[in-house]
Amino acid sequence: MTDALVLLKQDHKTVEQLFKKYEKTTAPKERRRIVDSIIKELSVHAAIEEQLFYPAVRKALPDLDGDVLEGIEEHHVLKWTLDELLDLPPEDERFHPKVTVLIEMVRHHVEEEETEMFPQVREGLSRKPLQELGAALEKAKSKAPTKPHPRSPDTPPGNRVAGPVAKVIELVGDKVKG
Ligand SMILES: [Fe+2]
Ligand SMILES: [Fe+2]
Repeated sequence: MTDALVLLKQDHKTVEQLFKKYEKTTAPKERRRIVDSIIKELSVHAAIEEQLFYPAVRKALPDLDGDVLEGIEEHHVLKWTLDELLDLPPEDERFHPKVTVLIEMVRHHVEEEETEMFPQVREGLSRKPLQELGAALEKAKSKAPTKPHPRSPDTPPGNRVAGPVAKVIELVGDKVKG
């Protein structure tokens, strides 16, 4: 079974690889192609964190509320930028700077998750609920939106994937260490 934190870090790695690829190319067509992949990966990742991971963390570890809420705001800004990039031609003078800012923003966000939030989640939750949450994240990934929906709520309920979510969140909440 997949551990939730391992799965999310794997997503981060996938996105970082796309960033590196983008930074190595200047061809507009290639830039467009890579940005399309970035939009897809980040839309799915943001959705599963917002619908499952963040609510589970808030429920199980209320001390992390501040970190989660900051994360939600960063996702919010991120989704608007992704939305603008959807139809922006790669030749447009705003395209490359927009992607550069997006990359900076996501690197900052990932760093905060991996160095501040995730270690505390690892500390606070035992293996079993983290694996159950991982399985739920894995499942949600296949159904999550591949496009950003910045106008949709950033917190559940309000999205389709929400079906089994409540149950998992309950489960995780019940299995906090100690
Ligand atoms: Fe995030
Ligand atoms: Fe993340």
